[in-house]
Amino acid sequence: MIYERLILMRDLMHSDGSIYVHCDWRVTSAIRYILEEVFGKERLLNEIVWKRTVAHSDSKQGGASYGRLHDTIWFFSRSDSYTWNQQHTPYSQNYIDENYRMRDESGRAFQPDNLTAAKPGGDTSYEWKGYRLKPGRYWAYSRANMEKFEREGRLYYTSSGLPRYKRYLDEMPGLAIQDMWTDVAPLSSQTHERLGYATQKPEALLERIIKASSNEGDLVADFFCGSGTTAAVAEKLGRKWIATDLGKFGIHTTRKRLIQVQRALKAGGQPFRAFEVLNLGRYERQAYLNVGGRLSGKQKEQALAQKEREFRDLILHAYKAEPYGSAGVSPASSPHGGQDARAPLSHDEFFHGKLNGRLVVVGPINLPVGRLFVEEVITECRKRGASRVDVLAFEFEMGLFPAVLEEAKGKGIDLVPKQIPPEVFDKRAVEKGQVVFFDISFIEAIPRYAQKDKFTVQIELADFSVYYTQGLVDSIAAELKEGKSEVVCESGKLLKISKDKQGVVTRDVLTKQWTDWVDYWAVDFNYESRKEIIKVSRGTGLSGVQGFLPGQEPSQRELELPADDFEERWTGAYIFENEWQSFRTRQSRDLELTTATHTYAKAGRYIIAVKVIDIFGNDTMTLVPVTVG
Ligand SMILES: C[S@@+](CC[C@H](N)C(=O)[O-])C[C@H]1O[C@@H](n2cnc3c(N)ncnc32)[C@H](O)[C@@H]1O
Repeated sequence: MIYERLILMRDLMHSDGSIYVHCDWRVTSAIRYILEEVFGKERLLNEIVWKRTVAHSDSKQGGASYGRLHDTIWFFSRSDSYTWNQQHTPYSQNYIDENYRMRDESGRAFQPDNLTAAKPGGDTSYEWKGYRLKPGRYWAYSRANMEKFEREGRLYYTSSGLPRYKRYLDEMPGLAIQDMWTDVAPLSSQTHERLGYATQKPEALLERIIKASSNEGDLVADFFCGSGTTAAVAEKLGRKWIATDLGKFGIHTTRKRLIQVQRALKAGGQPFRAFEVLNLGRYERQAYLNVGGRLSGKQKEQALAQKEREFRDLILHAYKAEPYGSAGVSPASSPHGGQDARAPLSHDEFFHGKLNGRLVVVGPINLPVGRLFVEEVITECRKRGASRVDVLAFEFEMGLFPAVLEEAKGKGIDLVPKQIPPEVFDKRAVEKGQVVFFDISFIEAIPRYAQKDKFTVQIELADFSVYYTQGLVDSIAAELKEGKSEVVCESGKLLKISKDKQGVVTRDVLTKQWTDWVDYWAVDFNYESRKEIIKVSRGTGLSGVQGFLPGQEPSQRELELPADDFEERWTGAYIFENEWQSFRTRQSRDLELTTATHTYAKAGRYIIAVKVIDIFGNDTMTLVPVTVG
């Protein structure tokens, strides 16, 4: 997998770019060979050893190996001409004491440096103030330069009259950095940098790398950004950046971190850049459903139907539901092949599976689930005399809930909408049963108008309801070791389950009020003003990203498409702009519940979008129409 990803990264890199790949002792040898294959052996510049931890922390008492203190950072360039800015570390006191013992009249420390050379060149053979060099030795500078040094007070004379150059300590950049980095300390538990992201790296590490291999205005990318250290440092150093991550927690942590960086730069009167958070989930689904271009209309339809069935099976598998058999899919052709022990249930025209006595239906893959679909679900449930159903979807139409749930309840149906998480594409997470389908949450946001100014509005976050349930409380309590505790979600509450040394289990409710669920909320006061436009390769039905996505046909060549092979297309969605936001940080747990006043320039009707991100990193949005003026 990393092979394809590195090829993709190589093809995206500028010819003067370079790449740093950080890994631990388990994978470092394999990664080196892959990098050599992708970039070429001759592009290997350094194997950097970073002492990432302090002594003894990795060597257990009685352990049968040496403590593992370092990680490896492989440094490769894209071509033989790459950006390089030599970085330095300050001299050690020992080095200074040994080499900078001399002081001039004003007390400045200096080192007397050699002014002679073994080879002649120009005006370098002359007598200087009565001092003649031995045969075969020459001055390193012309007489004119020596005279200049003399005027500047740069010459120091030994007792024999030999001039030497005064190299001042305060003018020296320090020691050129070598490939053994022992001076970048790991993040301490006390540092203000710490964000609670397990694998967070110190900013000093990224600062060294970014400064050495890029210049201001260059573009820095980290495709495994985690808590966003690379992006934060790049922004502070005036570089442009792209950061991506598979995990929503990483994206959310990065978003908050970058907003804080922007705020700090703004407060210091320094420039900063706006940034966009994009979700590639939709493109990933499109790519998954993409069928070969050479098929005829009918074949295409059949291939698409087959792909959709496979996709639904994948989702049901991740949801741990028993699938209903559907015409045309043999167990062997399902994504899990014949190894899937769950035999399909009997056939059903509408529902796709069953779980714990509830029917399960998967919504359309490429469209949000809307009112019509939910109404059909209710009708089909009633036809079968079923009263409990789960509706799984990637997206639900905004404003659908909670009204439609009440409607279902009124008709005797317990309908539970569940969000299909992007992790269903992660085979390993599916196989490990780690994919969580979260329940839908609802936002209540109220516009507040000012009495006097008809052009202004504020938004109050009035409620956020979450019905997350893992259904695991009892089993977790039973398996918990004595003296341990675990946090679990049940019936919309976050519980801390603890077992004391005597085996007594206690449950503490951590989320006492609805605001405890909210980690971040943001408002866009004119949501429909910015259409999401993407560039797609001309003539393709789906998208230009197809073929370049991980898991797709690996690109072994550079991106060669000329610019005019792309066209711009509106995706049908809008770009959410964080015009106002409030969020919790480790340092400050406070959350504002009413926005600052927003003033519109023109009278009219506007759609305000309110986005809430909960403590699990799940994203919910609602639209609030307002009329001003
Ligand atoms: C070691 S962490 C990076 C930590 C980061 N340097 C920091 O300072 O916070 C690796 C990150 O890679 C992400 N990741 C793993 N596989 C990925 C993939 N295939 N694509 C994108 N991100 C991935 C993980 O979610 C994790 O956040």
